[in-house]
Amino acid sequence: MPQTKRAKITAVGHFLPESRLTNHDLEQMVDTNDEWIRTRTGIEERRILKDKDKATAYMGIRAAEEALEQRGIDADEIDVIITGTVTPDYLFPASACLIQKAIGASNAYAFDLSAACSGFLFSLTTGANMIESGRAKKVLIIGADKMSSILDFTDRSTCILFGDGAGAVLLEASDDETGIVDYVHHTDGDTNNTLYQPAGGSLNPATIETVKEKKHYVRQDGRTVFKKATVGMADVSMEIMKRNDLSAEDIDWLVPHQANKRIIDATANRVGLPSKKVMLNIQKYGNTTSGTIPLCLYDWQDQLNKGDNLILASFGGGYTWGAIYLKWGIE
Ligand code: COA
Repeated sequence: MPQTKRAKITAVGHFLPESRLTNHDLEQMVDTNDEWIRTRTGIEERRILKDKDKATAYMGIRAAEEALEQRGIDADEIDVIITGTVTPDYLFPASACLIQKAIGASNAYAFDLSAACSGFLFSLTTGANMIESGRAKKVLIIGADKMSSILDFTDRSTCILFGDGAGAVLLEASDDETGIVDYVHHTDGDTNNTLYQPAGGSLNPATIETVKEKKHYVRQDGRTVFKKATVGMADVSMEIMKRNDLSAEDIDWLVPHQANKRIIDATANRVGLPSKKVMLNIQKYGNTTSGTIPLCLYDWQDQLNKGDNLILASFGGGYTWGAIYLKWGIE
């Protein structure tokens, strides 16, 4: 049997809107303060896509174009585009289809994947499986969310947490041991609706009432989600390390979903990693949902060496959570 080739990340791109919303700006909008937000979440500012005519696809296009430029290939070489998002431009067509057209990926098929804050991780493993099977040679994975489009900026418990942004990676077959080695993904259906957008789907289509009752915005029981996320992200990181016989010394970088610095610290502590090995940019961007992990990879790519062991970990609405063990494949 020929050895299946691993899928590896061969380029990274990103997009962040220029407009910054600081904690001090939020103090003018809701009853909160910079100190509370920083100590409870680690966030100092987040980016907001203000242009009324731009949304998730636009950010995904910019991130994808940067990744293709970095790799030096044309868009028509792409076989598949997967966009992790919970804030697509429309319920349909998928934002991935809009991205496919705009970047000129004429040979690619494209679809969105909805897994909330685990959207990027689940998309990455879906794409990796396509590469490993040999059915696709080049898969573009995008994590993009315009969270500001579903935030109630009068609700201090949610509007301080999120921001807008996008990241993109290119996946190709690896010729060596680098690439995605293993993954663990989990789901536990959140039938109590502790983190969700009540209306706009087929159960509660938009009506004047749903708009008046602010049901098109994120709703969250923060305390419950916090507890679940803290346990889930730490557990799944340990799970993937154990089954790959990895100790803390073997890990070069933890790349955690950026929802709350306290959740990230708890995961790092449990795994036994010092903060210098943990990617953290939540202070600059807040929680960009599907964008957080590729934005970390983008920000840290100059510090990554070929062969570095990375653990990517996420927890999000659904509930969905997971971890990926990969060996960095770019020189
Ligand atoms: N500014 C000031 N006070 C605030 C506030 C804000 N922005 N938001 C909430 N508070 C108040 C609450 O009203 C509460 O007051 P009370 O005790 O008088 O009722 C108090 O602060 C504590 O609220 P609580 O919700 O217990 O705070 P917390 O320590 O759990 O922190 C979150 C709140 C949202 C930061 C935290 O629960 C969290 O990060 N949860 C996970 C969210 C998440 O990551 N979701 C995305 C998917 S993973």
